[in-house]
Amino acid sequence: MLHRLFPTFLLLGAAILAGAGCTKSEPEHGVGPQSDAGPERRAGPVSGVDYHSFANTGDYRVRHLDLDLTVDFSRKVLEGEAILQIERLNEENNPLVLDTRGLSIESVRAGNGEHFEETAFSLTDSDDILGQALSIELPGDATTVAIRYRTDPEASGLQWLEPRQTAGKRHPFLFTQAQAIHARSFVPLQDTPGVRITYNATIRTPRDLRAVMSANNDPDAGQDGVYRFSMPQPIPSYLLALAVGDLEFKAMGKRTGVYAEHELLDAAAAEFADTEAMLEITEDVYGPYRWDRYDLLILPPSFPFGGMENPRLSFITPTVIAGDKSLVSLIAHELAHSWSGNLVSNATWRDLWLNEGFTTYLTKRIMQFVYGDDRYDMEMALDYADLQTALADLDDSDEILAIDVRGRDPDDVFSDIPYVKASLFLYELEQKIGRADFDRFLLDYFNEFSFQSITTEDFLAYLERTLLKTHMELLDVDRIHEWIFEPGIPDGAPHPRSDAFTRLDPVRRSWLDGDTPAADIDSSAWTYHEWKYFLDGMPEALSDAQLRDLDQAFALTASTNNEIAFSWLRIAVRNDYQPAYARLEDFLTSIGRNKFLMPLYQELMDAGNADMAIRIFEKARPGYHPLTVKRNSKIIYAEDAEDAEDPQDAE
Ligand code: BES
Ligand code: ZN
Repeated sequence: MLHRLFPTFLLLGAAILAGAGCTKSEPEHGVGPQSDAGPERRAGPVSGVDYHSFANTGDYRVRHLDLDLTVDFSRKVLEGEAILQIERLNEENNPLVLDTRGLSIESVRAGNGEHFEETAFSLTDSDDILGQALSIELPGDATTVAIRYRTDPEASGLQWLEPRQTAGKRHPFLFTQAQAIHARSFVPLQDTPGVRITYNATIRTPRDLRAVMSANNDPDAGQDGVYRFSMPQPIPSYLLALAVGDLEFKAMGKRTGVYAEHELLDAAAAEFADTEAMLEITEDVYGPYRWDRYDLLILPPSFPFGGMENPRLSFITPTVIAGDKSLVSLIAHELAHSWSGNLVSNATWRDLWLNEGFTTYLTKRIMQFVYGDDRYDMEMALDYADLQTALADLDDSDEILAIDVRGRDPDDVFSDIPYVKASLFLYELEQKIGRADFDRFLLDYFNEFSFQSITTEDFLAYLERTLLKTHMELLDVDRIHEWIFEPGIPDGAPHPRSDAFTRLDPVRRSWLDGDTPAADIDSSAWTYHEWKYFLDGMPEALSDAQLRDLDQAFALTASTNNEIAFSWLRIAVRNDYQPAYARLEDFLTSIGRNKFLMPLYQELMDAGNADMAIRIFEKARPGYHPLTVKRNSKIIYAEDAEDAEDPQDAE
């Protein structure tokens, strides 16, 4: 499917740019191995060019957004006005091209600071991946554009939840998820991480609900149905975020707190009580936290990710509230993005590894500071094992950090590569030059590029003028290029290990050999980490007797830790262990986190259990996020995204 879309997408993008006579921002960079691709090879992506935006960022830059939106739960639409302040970068007076998806545009006015006048606009046909380009004619003196619009009830970046999908069961809930290219489905803008904007917003909600945003939330705001926000620090569009629900607030520390439904509030505040400590230690090592407050928002379980680093307010799945803080590295991860990602952002989706890889590296360090060396070792080793599994399945081209995402949906390019491979690269640099120097390097890097969006080549150029000068004898530029531009992991890369896990290997072996029954294994001190290592290291095929032995001894089917349940259910599906199927169905219909759902549906398909996969998926589908529906449809129906709308077609 991706191959089929590729030419359409390129032609469409090119046609729009050529037809409108607009200037797509030319990269200022262009170094790096891909620039010398010969004519016989398909030319590589150009550094700094965002292939996922129609916006003519070479002509105009949006600098500020004023939003005024009404949240209509009965029609499932956001409706109102977006006013964009734009800067002109040349005298050409081309139309302004914005990104949209599924937006109904009612009117567009252009203004020069004194008055507004209606102006002509047009929308292109919709591209499956990119949506529609909105082209706006601008008078020569225009500095402001006001767009009245409403969103589609099926908007890809919104999920509208029925009361029964919430913890309280009494009120509806709405949340946005803009990363990677879904902001355009709820605001018309230059939807590219290379452009940063400040914003103000007025959000009008039903009176009994509260709105929160990736902005200055006020826990004491009166609940009168009108909420005003401002985000004074410039952010890329993928960090725009809004949620509306029956939310309460509880402080955890001076600068940290949690928003959640009443039913989850205390449990969440207890689970994440170390957030303030994480924030302080990260500041000590990597420089000041630049976003004022750091709060968490606990979403309903259909949230499609573990977490999303929306500035000042990370969005968090409730599935990590395990009762024992065993899964709080997710919080360290989203917090770390306040430096790696939100302060220094990827300029295009090819550069995502700069966000997620640095964040994965920082996450481990934060966990070590707060919880100690054993946990650090275990979490490093678990990531490493996941990376090995991922590498076994990926095409070479998908193992490259600076990945070629042209013609592809960024939602489909997700893997452990930008996360774990990239963090292993940073870990190798740390090992080579020593922690103290590497910490200093990161601190300087965050300062150097704060509130900027950078490319892989910007990072390389920075390395050239810093570490590659100061630590010349310890580092090798060819090896660094191998990490970034070649598939796989370079020979001799670090291999993180954990003593706690090494001790588990003979235990697992002895059980597999039938020498030790599960009941004789002393697992009383195991945390989630040991369980995950123990289970994920099992061979593919286990007998029914073995599965029963494990389940009877450890009650794995009943585990309330979602990560343990997930690892166990994967084994159960693979081996057709029927006593776990009721739990599997419950898990798949009550949780929307793709990290769990996609592998489980894939295992069902691989095990020849397509009927069960389809039945459960169709039952759960009305409660799933649009992204969850799209991604899992591809697994279950092996179908194109556009057909995924209608399950009837697919069967
Ligand atoms: N920013 C990501 C989530 C994301 C990435 C959404 C790309 C859309 C496109 C977030 O920070 C993340 O990495 N979440 C992980 C956390 C995990 C690695 C600790 C998740 O949701 O599982
Ligand atoms: Zn992340």
